[in-house]
Amino acid sequence: MTKNVFRHKIKINKLLLTCFVLASLSNTNAQNVKQPAWVAPSSFNELKNPFTEYSAPAKLGKKTYSIYCAACHGNGGKGDGAAAASLNPKPSDHTSSLVQSETDGSLFWKMTEGRGTMASFKQILTDDQRWQLVCYIRTLAKNK
Ligand code: HEC
Repeated sequence: MTKNVFRHKIKINKLLLTCFVLASLSNTNAQNVKQPAWVAPSSFNELKNPFTEYSAPAKLGKKTYSIYCAACHGNGGKGDGAAAASLNPKPSDHTSSLVQSETDGSLFWKMTEGRGTMASFKQILTDDQRWQLVCYIRTLAKNK
């Protein structure tokens, strides 16, 4: 029973995500949008990841990533998901040294708040799920 309710929730979330991706696609234009730097507030920059051992949470994060993030960021995190070609600015490359040099707290804040076509996942994913995603993003450095 609980399992069915959970499945149902995932389906609804997937549907919402699809709508969101389609809406963002229709909002983009051909010009290259120059984005100002996106900097997390220092209180978040310094926020510690509650997971001190990353490999188990990263596995859970990988699943969440494939459902909610890969459409734009690509399965390997290079920013080359199916929707990426028509997005402007482009989804960031999570394998890049730029992203990898950010603190866990900064990555957590960005996926919590979102900016432009990058959705806010505050209402969609729990804090734990977002920290698991941070752990997973750390494993993507090797895909570079
Ligand atoms: C609809 C496409 C889309 C989806 C889905 C999406 N993103 Fe993004 N993401 C973007 C774009 C575009 C940017 C660049 C935003 C900007 O710079 O204004 C971005 C930026 C980011 C950044 C900031 C990286 C940096 O440059 O500092 C993080 C972290 C991130 N996304 C994580 C995620 C995670 C985790 C998910 C899934 C839970 C996700 N994104 C889902 C489009 C998407």
